[in-house]
Amino acid sequence: MNSQAPILIVGAGQAGVQIAESLRQEGFGGELLLIGEEPHPPYQRPPLSKKWLADGGSGSAVSLAIRGAEALARRRIELKLDARVAAVDRRAGELTFSNGERLRYGKLAFATGSLPRILPVPGAMLEGVLYLRGIADSRAIAEAIRRCAADQQRVVVIGGGFIGLEVAAGARKLGAEVTVIEGLERLMSRVTAQVVSEAFERVHRAHGVEFVFDAQVVELSGRGGRVELVRTADGREFPAGCVVVGIGVAPDDRIAAEAGVACDRGIIVDECSRTSDPVIAAAGDCTARRLPDGRLQRLESVQNAVEQGKSAAAALMGRSRPFHATPWFWSDQYDVKLQMAGLSHGYDQVVTRGDLHKPAFSAFYFRAGRLVAVDSLNRISDHMLAKRLLDHDLSPTVEQVTNPDFDLHGLVKQSA
Ligand code: APR
Repeated sequence: MNSQAPILIVGAGQAGVQIAESLRQEGFGGELLLIGEEPHPPYQRPPLSKKWLADGGSGSAVSLAIRGAEALARRRIELKLDARVAAVDRRAGELTFSNGERLRYGKLAFATGSLPRILPVPGAMLEGVLYLRGIADSRAIAEAIRRCAADQQRVVVIGGGFIGLEVAAGARKLGAEVTVIEGLERLMSRVTAQVVSEAFERVHRAHGVEFVFDAQVVELSGRGGRVELVRTADGREFPAGCVVVGIGVAPDDRIAAEAGVACDRGIIVDECSRTSDPVIAAAGDCTARRLPDGRLQRLESVQNAVEQGKSAAAALMGRSRPFHATPWFWSDQYDVKLQMAGLSHGYDQVVTRGDLHKPAFSAFYFRAGRLVAVDSLNRISDHMLAKRLLDHDLSPTVEQVTNPDFDLHGLVKQSA
């Protein structure tokens, strides 16, 4: 295969734009097309549930841009927007768009991201039931929240994870009353320890958010096709001016799977972001990475999109560039910044450092005596330190972490 044959990238988000730019850095001189189904050039999604939403969702799309159209043009990265890829014919090396148009590729990359999980109950698609993925969704949510605030109706948020809690904080800032309904017994339980969940619950309650835990939503109902009520399995009913659903995301691997590329709740990639097809790479939320022990790992983060994007570009150039950086994530809720380094699942001990009630503390997760992750709330220097410790496979002891006088930064300096 001629390495200068056209490369097409399906998905113009963080991962897609990274693949395109890295391909140029890797020396790819051929035709490069970045395909996006939204009308906007590549933009950052994280603010859509955070500051951008809390500011009213009326900011310009340009303020979210990852890279302006000019910068892309300078690198000869062509954008094809408002274009939906319907199918991939791998034998012909051809994409078909939903309007019937076809395009040939020499090599291909999937950066299709993830889609919000739809609430599996009657009424989940009524008007006024909102899901967050793109700019248009964030605008619609902000507008619905403003209407609730004006009409003194409640915003009901389903899901007490990152999206649900960030939207709840934004809704309070926009003046609406908020109820969060969470299926499990505490907030963000997928990713954090109890002590972190409790700190965020206190912060939200102090801002006037109401919580309902251990609740199974069984039905959304309303009149004239518009949602008015959320019903839970124990018979309780929650009046709602609008409902925002944030119950997790699923990788968008549909076109890849239909084309016969190996997928298992995500497009399966190796540590170099190669798929089962030698001329196709994939990066970001749409992937499931095969780990050395055979498990599949899914990471939903900007960092993963960027790092996998770099390795996918190298793979398309026939080079191996694995990445092994410590995963990190963040969330902003009111004036609390949560920064997470490492993966905490499977931890057997968690200890804290700092002030739980301010809150300004970090939770250190240990597995079999070794540090595996750190969640920091308004402790930016702890987060920076945690990334360095984990990157260098350095572990303080539990005693060192809990001793406020012990200089954890010294551990990194010593090893340098
Ligand atoms: N009813 C109520 N709560 C539910 C239900 C349900 N039917 N199903 C799931 N939940 C709860 C989960 O228990 C969890 O607390 O919804 C929450 C979902 O939280 P996350 O898994 O963090 O997903 P979400 O908030 O949608 O964020 C998805 O978007 O911000 C990005 O990359 C970030 O991974 C994050 C992704």
